[in-house]
Amino acid sequence: MVDYYHDHVSLDVPLSEPLLQKRKTKSLKRQWNQLSKCQKTVICTLSAMVFLIILYIVTYEPESAVISIHVSSNENGKDILKNIRNDPRDVEPNFNEIVHENQVLEEPAGADMDNEVNKNQVLLSPKVELKFTGPATTRQQAVLKAFRHAWRGYKKFAWGHDHLKPITESYNDWFGLGLTIVDSLDTIFIMGLKEEYSEAKDWVDKHLHFEVNRDVNLFEVTIRVLGGLLSIYHFSKDDIFLEKATDLADRLLPCFESESGIPFSDINLFTRKAHAPKWSPDSSTSEVTTIQLEFRDLSRVTGDTKYELAVEKVSRLVHKLEKKDGLVPIFINANTGQFRSYSTITLGARGDSYYEYLLKQWLQTGKTLNYLKEDYLAAIEGIEKHLAKRTVPNGFLFVGELLNGGKDFKPKMDHLTCYLPGTLALGVQNGLPKKHMKLAEELLTTCYQTYAQQPTFLAPEITYFNIQGESSNDMFVKSNDAHNLLRPEFIESLWYMYQFTGNATYQDWGWRIFQGFENYTKVTNGYTSIGNVKSVNNVRPKDMMESFFLSETLKYLYLLFSDNPKLLDLEKYVINSEAHPLPIDMV
Ligand SMILES: *[C@@H]1O[C@H](CO)[C@@H](O)[C@H](O)[C@H]1NC(C)=O
Ligand SMILES: *[C@@H]1O[C@H](CO)[C@@H](O)[C@H](O)[C@H]1NC(C)=O
Repeated sequence: MVDYYHDHVSLDVPLSEPLLQKRKTKSLKRQWNQLSKCQKTVICTLSAMVFLIILYIVTYEPESAVISIHVSSNENGKDILKNIRNDPRDVEPNFNEIVHENQVLEEPAGADMDNEVNKNQVLLSPKVELKFTGPATTRQQAVLKAFRHAWRGYKKFAWGHDHLKPITESYNDWFGLGLTIVDSLDTIFIMGLKEEYSEAKDWVDKHLHFEVNRDVNLFEVTIRVLGGLLSIYHFSKDDIFLEKATDLADRLLPCFESESGIPFSDINLFTRKAHAPKWSPDSSTSEVTTIQLEFRDLSRVTGDTKYELAVEKVSRLVHKLEKKDGLVPIFINANTGQFRSYSTITLGARGDSYYEYLLKQWLQTGKTLNYLKEDYLAAIEGIEKHLAKRTVPNGFLFVGELLNGGKDFKPKMDHLTCYLPGTLALGVQNGLPKKHMKLAEELLTTCYQTYAQQPTFLAPEITYFNIQGESSNDMFVKSNDAHNLLRPEFIESLWYMYQFTGNATYQDWGWRIFQGFENYTKVTNGYTSIGNVKSVNNVRPKDMMESFFLSETLKYLYLLFSDNPKLLDLEKYVINSEAHPLPIDMV
């Protein structure tokens, strides 16, 4: 892995021992004091020379201050990775290509983008490692326009609050942490939006604090706020984000002080008192198992293992529990550390990301934690055995639920489950069984049908499937389930599948859905959840724009419409459950 602190120590030249940072600083000081005056002078001179050389390189050739992972694709879609720092001569064609791409933009927003490469250079510190050059296709341009529309509404009526209520021109506060800003920062960065980045960062710097005397949900705050801060920290290398992330994580840690080590679901960030949710003695299984990427990453960047130890203990505890062919009930008790027996088994709400993080933790740790891979493989077997069924009459494959301790099958699938094809494809890409790809393709098709069969071209929150042949329709939607919250899961899967197959059909599907959002959820001051996807004349706007629309839905759309398969390199990043990329351990 990259040792980010390394960059800040100018005296590390004489030492090559890779020691822990704290110890290194101390012993460096001691050694420094023991040096003679002459030795000190030599070191100072050398350091100054190194500094001057770096300064020369930076000013002489601005591009060489960054390691660009911008990749140009040739006709075969083959990638050419350019590491500018290694060979500055490689820059020229690549750089020209970026400029060229930007010049062909027609939209007014494009004018802003023309000099994005250089603007980012000025905007961000020279430590920036990754850069994004703004939209390169007309579809990306359209998504960027959508993002700006959403951002403008948020800025005007909800700035600093969690969510925009675009119809009533007001806001919603769930945790009171400016969720939309923190969740959007890395999307803004990836889109290359300079002004938005600067105002968002400024808000985080001056106004984001965690002395908030109210209960927050450990999982939600971890994936949205901790994940968001860490991700933008990695992109920008700006310490302000790391400081905030560390403060937040320290306040969340008391959640883990339960009898079993399974965390309580809720905590007051001010009093630091943790407890089970008000409506239940139990935590949700997916919640306690979807915090590991973020806490582990914080341990990586701070060098303090306490965060990783707390969350990895949870993973190991859950690993030891008895499961139904790898499948887990959706509730777990923080005191006993046991599943609530007879609770539902689902790849939807409260179950979903348990399976996602088994794979992604294995990837994050450079494929070193094998018990996670084993649990993942067992779970996919369990899904195929118990949950995957086909509809009548057209044989669409879907993933249903098990109730009452596994006795009853319910032919129901949450839209949330549509993350699964993407995760399966990610596994296959990393050497897991090829047959998972078939499952991924079939599920993706079914998820697409949940959109395509609605006149709005938007999927409902929940779909039921016909397995008995009682009607001529494969799927149906209850009116209570007909809402669409601007969720990202299917777009996320389309992106992964497009990344790994290059099949442009997935881009076209995404485009039709994007048009559905444009036609039926776009309002004067942003985008809104709707209550009914079943009628184009009566969508019943719900007056809510969730932060994940900006963090995830628009980010994945933007990535999906890129023709650059390495815009976000999945060999280097693992993406958390809220679409925040975190680096993979280099082992
Ligand atoms: C949305 O509007 C576009 C442009 O008017 C149109 O081409 C598309 O068919 C519409 N999609 C839906 C689902 O209504
Ligand atoms: C692309 O995906 C679509 C939808 O799954 C499929 O019908 C088509 O055969 C695929 N094309 C290729 C070239 O694999």
